[in-house]
Amino acid sequence: MKTIGAFKAPPDSAGSARAFSRIGYDLAEALADLIDNSIDAEASLVEITFFRNTERLTAVTIADDGRGMSASALKTAMQFATSVRHKPTDLGTFGLGMKSASFSQCHSLTVVSRQAGKVAACRWTDEAIKADWRCELLDPKEAEKAFAGAFSSKGETRKHGTVVVWDRLDRLGAAEGELDEFLAKTMSQLEIKLGLVFHRFIARSGLKILLRAKSEQSDFALPHVVKPLDPFAYPAPGKAGYPKTFTTNLPGAGQIKLEGHIWPPGAASPEFLLGRRRATPHQGFYFYRNNRLIQAGGWNDFLKDTNDPELALARIAVDLPSEGTATNVQKSAIQVSTALTQALSRARAGGSSLADYLEDARAMLRSQKRRPRANAAAPAVPGVGVPVQVRRNVRKLVAKKGVAREIDFAWESLPKGKVFDLDRVDDRIVLNKKYRHLILGHARASGADAPVVKTLLFLLLQDDFSRARFSAQRREWIRRCNAVLLEAVKTL
Ligand SMILES: Nc1ncnc2c1ncn2[C@@H]1O[C@H](COP(=O)(O)OP(=O)(O)OP(=O)(O)O)[C@@H](O)[C@H]1O
Ligand SMILES: [Mg+2]
Repeated sequence: MKTIGAFKAPPDSAGSARAFSRIGYDLAEALADLIDNSIDAEASLVEITFFRNTERLTAVTIADDGRGMSASALKTAMQFATSVRHKPTDLGTFGLGMKSASFSQCHSLTVVSRQAGKVAACRWTDEAIKADWRCELLDPKEAEKAFAGAFSSKGETRKHGTVVVWDRLDRLGAAEGELDEFLAKTMSQLEIKLGLVFHRFIARSGLKILLRAKSEQSDFALPHVVKPLDPFAYPAPGKAGYPKTFTTNLPGAGQIKLEGHIWPPGAASPEFLLGRRRATPHQGFYFYRNNRLIQAGGWNDFLKDTNDPELALARIAVDLPSEGTATNVQKSAIQVSTALTQALSRARAGGSSLADYLEDARAMLRSQKRRPRANAAAPAVPGVGVPVQVRRNVRKLVAKKGVAREIDFAWESLPKGKVFDLDRVDDRIVLNKKYRHLILGHARASGADAPVVKTLLFLLLQDDFSRARFSAQRREWIRRCNAVLLEAVKTL
């Protein structure tokens, strides 16, 4: 058809504010998008702080010690879909992440940046976007205070760095009276997700990511250090000859390498389970771009069944070239083109294809199934619910070959007479939620609270998880332990 004219139709500002807040990021993805920016700015420290009062979260700050921005660079950075020239090794591509990630979680985004000692600050709010995209410039003196308050170590004055502040967080809420639990759960999930996405940066380049929750009433907030969670860190491969490097050609991107791994059967380490009870959902491709994990598992279009229980041990690391493959805006998935799917099926390692690899991974798992409860004989160690250092150190002490059976802890509703219960199907010790505040005393509830009580219960009950039969006598013993403990709890 012939063009007969043209008219300008820029996006409507009110509609844009609404639409940007609907780009589907989860909290970890949104924070990861900001950490990408910190890494591009050569930061070695990123501190994420959840500010709270007694009822709710009041703000989240993401502070880094990167190179910072000048006042004019900050103005450019605030623009949606800004055109910043990126190096091929940069994590940023779209010129959008900082804004889209932030507006998925909050209604007010402030960025304070410091370069060569000079501070500049800007703010976007829903209203400012609606008022025809008028970004606010903020008083640098006040901004300097906010900048300093976002770091836990106040000793030295930082001459450069950037602090992103999320205010008006109605998305990030907890039900009434459940803020402690919400924060504890959020922090432990973030530790896992961020530890996974940035594991290469944390382990190889010494990037330090800190998470802390800070109450308005107190200055004290113990930071959690995010540890690297490498999805390929097993003590020994499940099958000799693996990992195997497959190569293929991707039109427009050149040669790509796929590293096919087979995890050892019976693995139950955090690196295998990645925060879940079972590893089945973690099989598949692990796509990295510039060392940042974009996608953790999934077969894309390569296999129909994305959660094949027989492929639970199969993980393939793929380092994608920065050109020639596309991610979604959230950088949480690779957009798989027909070309990529075809390239994957052409991949070869010597005479073998990815199909042969999958067969090997299946055979390995089947051989494990023939030995029912393969890890029943493995030593029991405390799992989710006690501090990571306890888990790691106990494992070092008792699981010489690295294979262990993790016993997790959970607070749930149990009948009044019980302080704890055993869940032998899912290898868990369940504690009665009713007595949580009594047991914790003045300590705050968290994913790894009451470590001493939990560890003692673990020591008391560890053998019960490997017993083939749970005798009436043993049941009576557990009942008596409960009765005695309950007497003690009642005095708290
Ligand atoms: N923490 C930071 N330190 C220094 N500069 C930053 C920081 N955060 C953002 N910037 C600057 O702001 C620009 C815009 O960031 P934004 O995340 O919106 O887009 P991007 O990183 O260019 O691309 P993408 O949308 O893929 O993330 C960046 O290119 C960078 O120049
Ligand atoms: Mg970015």
